[in-house]
Amino acid sequence: MAKPICDPLRVLRVLGVLSVIAAVSFVQRASAEDAAAAQPPASLQGKTCTDAGCHGKETNRKHVHGPVAIGSCKSCHALKDESKHKFALAHPEEQLCSICHLAVARRTVKHFPAAEGQCTACHDPHGSSSPAFLKKAEISDLCTECHDSSEVAGGKKHVHAPVEAKVCTACHEVHDSDHAKLLKASE
Ligand code: HEC
Ligand code: HEC
Ligand code: HEC
Ligand code: HEC
Ligand code: HEC
Repeated sequence: MAKPICDPLRVLRVLGVLSVIAAVSFVQRASAEDAAAAQPPASLQGKTCTDAGCHGKETNRKHVHGPVAIGSCKSCHALKDESKHKFALAHPEEQLCSICHLAVARRTVKHFPAAEGQCTACHDPHGSSSPAFLKKAEISDLCTECHDSSEVAGGKKHVHAPVEAKVCTACHEVHDSDHAKLLKASE
């Protein structure tokens, strides 16, 4: 059979590689510009955000996010007022992560906060003591911040063990899925 001119899998692979290259060059460019723009007050000139001893909190975690680890604060923070040392987010919040993490929620069923770019509802942008920089040690504690027990188990007397044990991700995807209700497989 003749190969289709535009094989969708190949296009996806190429796009994937291009996005990694774009992300890497973005990080490199941002870190080179950091020294020029995201400087602490005059008294600390010559120091960076972290070696001035001021922002150790952001880097001193078990799991540190790539751009934070290389001191590329400017990937996400833009200097707004140098004299007051005020910063704004470098991009609108809903685009802050997708600049490097292209389309996290791309399958047909998308989890609302992931699709809307509310990534920091679950992830700490700097890092965390938990893998994937999660804001809570237990994933289910993230879920129950927004989903109360009545929604999950409907206030039922008999609750399925894994639901009660709160291993939500035994059955649900967190960002997106090909199945209704973000299920990992068809019901
Ligand atoms: C400048 C590019 C850049 C931006 C912007 C960025 N990231 Fe990342 N992110 C990376 C890189 C590079 C890695 C891989 C290295 C690592 O694990 O830290 C990564 C890794 C991650 C991981 C861990 C992946 C794993 O396998 O454990 C999570 C979660 C994450 N980022 C979330 C976010 C969130 C949330 C935002 C927005 C607040 C964000 N990222 C913005 C570059 C970026
Ligand atoms: C991946 C994006 C990202 C990177 C990289 C990043 N930050 Fe942040 N940072 C955020 C977000 C999002 C907030 C939340 C504040 C907001 O909503 O304005 C924040 C908040 C902060 C705050 C306010 C206090 C706090 O902890 O909430 C400080 C200080 C800070 N960042 C310092 C840094 C420093 C220093 C670096 C570099 C070592 C850095 N950040 C790199 C995304 C990032
Ligand atoms: C409802 C909570 C939640 C939201 C919102 C969310 N994530 Fe996640 N994310 C998680 C959890 C939980 C994991 C870890 C999954 C695991 O370990 O099974 C994860 C894992 C990741 C990873 C690691 C690789 C992977 O896909 O497993 C990256 C990168 C990531 N998230 C980026 C993002 C970005 C970017 C956004 C916003 C567009 C986002 N996340 C929104 C909960 C969330
Ligand atoms: C920041 C708030 C927030 C967090 C945290 C959160 N969710 Fe959601 N979730 C939502 C919203 C909003 C909807 C959409 C509700 C609607 O459409 O009625 C939703 C929808 C869902 C749905 C139904 C999807 C569908 O297509 O019908 C499931 C399942 C779900 N979430 C599971 C989880 C799990 C599992 C976690 C923890 C990993 C979690 N949620 C964490 C806000 C959140
Ligand atoms: C044993 C597998 C399993 C576990 C564990 C589980 N769920 Fe579900 N969940 C389901 C199934 C199946 C549905 C779809 C039910 C339906 O369509 O009536 C669902 C539906 C949902 C919905 C959508 C409700 C609605 O009416 O749209 C939410 C929100 C949800 N689950 C959140 C959670 C959270 C949060 C946890 C962890 C505390 C969790 N689930 C644990 C299997 C599970």
